[in-house]
Amino acid sequence: MDNNRHDRIRAVQWQGDHLRLLDQRRLPSEESWIACREADQVTTAIRDLAVRGAPAIGIAAAWAVALAALREEPLAPALSRLRAARPTAVNLMWALDRMQRHIDAGANPAALLREAQAIQDEDLAANRRMGELGASLIAPGSGVLTHCNTGSLATAGFGTALGVIRAGTAAGRIDRVYAGETRPWQQGARLTMWELMQDGIAAQLIADSAAAHLMKSGVVQWVIVGADRIAANGDTANKIGTYQLAIAAKYHGVKFMVVAPSSTVDMATGTGEEIEIELRDSAELLGTGGVRTVVEGAQAWNPVFDIAPAELIDVIVTERGVIERPNSIAMQAMFGC
Ligand code: MRU
Repeated sequence: MDNNRHDRIRAVQWQGDHLRLLDQRRLPSEESWIACREADQVTTAIRDLAVRGAPAIGIAAAWAVALAALREEPLAPALSRLRAARPTAVNLMWALDRMQRHIDAGANPAALLREAQAIQDEDLAANRRMGELGASLIAPGSGVLTHCNTGSLATAGFGTALGVIRAGTAAGRIDRVYAGETRPWQQGARLTMWELMQDGIAAQLIADSAAAHLMKSGVVQWVIVGADRIAANGDTANKIGTYQLAIAAKYHGVKFMVVAPSSTVDMATGTGEEIEIELRDSAELLGTGGVRTVVEGAQAWNPVFDIAPAELIDVIVTERGVIERPNSIAMQAMFGC
């Protein structure tokens, strides 16, 4: 496929002496960049969703560790503040563990910079591979529904679920793309639609609550989503709303695909029950764009991820290969313990 047309967005950029992050909170109305010159600025950017998406926050955290080493900041407290920035996406902990192993082995700042670059490069390569693998499962002429943003913004580039959509569209397998709005933060409306428009891929936005009705109409054959953490039995944590999409897909005979790199697989976590679900500020639900829309005094519950149980997932696509009907045995065979 023509990657120059389909793969130009790079939201996490190392600039030689600082990290440049595309501020995703301002898209699509404004493309503004944050220059991080200290690790704690990256921690804040992760916590406040300036950089978001499981692989992207892992990559940003790896650069933050290298930045801390370059500036001779104390590494242990910087790493522990990064680790606490968000709880659900395991790519954050995975990247920090990988950097920690190099620190323990006596790596100097230059070696840590090389490791952060390797993490970023490997993610891009994984996404391209998953794009091919996932697209090959889709029959020509299919319609797909995706949720949240899983594209270049959420990764080193190309994307996970959105990478499959990019590759599937280029290969003529996907004819129709629908993106759920993804309340409350609207990653689908604000980010996925922006990426698809940049690529010239025709797509239609739907309200999250229109998904079951869309499936019933027969125009989508696959729901394709990313993941923030995949447990050892295949249970998958992803953006809130994913679970209800998986239930509706099963009911309507629509196939359900999870696309994520092996850095999202957490074999130390047995099932989805053990995954911590991030709860965010109720203000994200009680207003839109900073403007209060709900009566003063009202309260809200705002979990931002949920768990799709393995039995509702038809296929998990990683760069190592495809797992159909995931369970503990199939996961063990591909990822070991
Ligand atoms: O809260 P966010 O925007 O970081 O959540 C992102 C998601 O849930 C994505 O679907 C997931 O990280 C996969 S990104 C390739």
